[in-house]
This record gives sequence, structure tokens and C-alpha cells, in this order.
Amino acid sequence: MSTVGHTKRITPAAIEAMKGQRPIVSLTAYTTPIARLLDPHCDLLLVGDSLGMVLYGMDTTVGVTLDMMIAHGQAVIRGTKHACVIVDLPFGSYQESKEQAFRSAARILKETGCDGVKLEGGEEMAETVAFLTSRGIPVFGHVGLMPQQVNTTGGYRSLGRSDKEADKIRRDAKAISAAGAFAMVIEGTIEPLAREITAAVAIPTIGIGASAACDGQILVSDDMLGLFNDFKPRFVKHFAELAPMVSKAAEAYAEEVKARTFPALEHTFQPKK
Ligand code: KIV
Repeated sequence: MSTVGHTKRITPAAIEAMKGQRPIVSLTAYTTPIARLLDPHCDLLLVGDSLGMVLYGMDTTVGVTLDMMIAHGQAVIRGTKHACVIVDLPFGSYQESKEQAFRSAARILKETGCDGVKLEGGEEMAETVAFLTSRGIPVFGHVGLMPQQVNTTGGYRSLGRSDKEADKIRRDAKAISAAGAFAMVIEGTIEPLAREITAAVAIPTIGIGASAACDGQILVSDDMLGLFNDFKPRFVKHFAELAPMVSKAAEAYAEEVKARTFPALEHTFQPKK
């Protein structure tokens, strides 16, 4: 079979093999133009269900649908050729049964061409992770703070300070690794616990609010780019300040439109001489 025309994306297996090599670089991406800019610099791009809050102004990720994830997965695939692209399974598309999870994940893989899916959950999702991975679907796990469970866990806060919390995250991480995930996100978890889990599991841990002790890092790209002025959690660093730049550009545009200085002659079509 010819491989001409096939992209040489980083595979989930290659991400898994990076454990112990160098830190894994990962960001979220939701649209083609941003994915195009991030792709050369990232090992993994996640089409996260955070898009519900970041792009659609939702209060939580609970309202995100499978169709939304597929549309944005397709957009990101169109803009990338290097990074491993993983698409989140949204709330309600996989928790009911392993069969439901397979149907949702298969739809995502078939309709987007992405490299795998991410799902949130620990011990309770281990059977599902094993079911998917043994049937050809690479799974990226997600333990620690799980935003899809915000309605039962009571909000967004860092975890692992009490023995009970730490023990749960520890057991969740081990279960997801043993079930066959190729890597896992650890979100909002105190540093010593993230360090301990990273040493204990065979697969890479990708931290968000879980310290540099993890095998890699992920941030929501819009956070990292400084596109939100009003909210900056402790674990976010702005590597650019795009929000004030966008505001200033909009202000300058409005002034020029009102003054009729835009469009100028060079932006205007004239009859041929
Ligand atoms: O949905 C998302 O963007 C995520 C990352 C923050 C890990 O799950």
C-alpha cells in the first residue's frame, strides 16, 4: 500500500513512548487558523470540551454536544499535519455504558480523522478505557479535577490535600494507566501527589495545574494567549496579552470607520483605466 499523501502525525503510541524522554508539549485548539499556528510547536493538540466555555460562553462544559466536538475536531484536523490530535468525549456521550462510549468515540474518529479520544474518570471508567483501547480506539485519560463532574464535586478547586482525596486520585490514575490509556491529564492536583503518580504510572502524565513534575504540560490556548482579561487562575501563565491588542484594534477600526479614513484609496476598487 502506498503511503503517499498520508500525513506523518505524531501517534498516540509515540506520545506514550515520550515518557522519560523530554517534556510533552500540549495545548488545546478548536479552530483551523489557531491549530495551524500551534501545530509546529506542539506534540499533542486537544480539541477540549473547554470549547463550550471558551468559544460558546457556557458556564460549564456539561452542555457541550458530540456534534460540537466533531465540528471542531474536523476544523483542527484541517489545520494540522504534525501534532497528535485528540478530541474530548463530551459529557453524556460515554458515561452510560462502554458500548455508548465506543459508539461516540467511533463517530469522532470516523468523522474527524483524529488520533484518539479523551475521557474524564478514574476507577469507574477503567472498564470503558479497556473496552475502547482493545477495539482500536486510543484513549487519553483525565483524572484529578474533572470539569464534567463539577455539578457533583462542587466546583473548580485544587485537589489532593486530604488523604481521602489523594488516595482517590492515586487509585484513579493507576486504574486508567492499567486499563490501557496512552497518556493522561492530571488536572488541579497538588505537586507532591502529581510527582508521586508520575513516578508510579507507566504512561505519561500531562499536567494542568499539577506542577512541572508531570511528564508534560497542557493549557487552554486562549488562556495562554491572554485572550481573557477578567479571569486568570493561578496555574495559567499568559505567554502573550492578546485581549488588550484585540480591544485596541477594534477601537482604532471604529474610529477610522467613523472618520471615513478607512477604507482608504488602497483598499478601494476603481474602474479599469
Ligand atoms: O477540555 C479541556 O480543554 C481539557 C484540558 C484543560 C485538559 O480537558
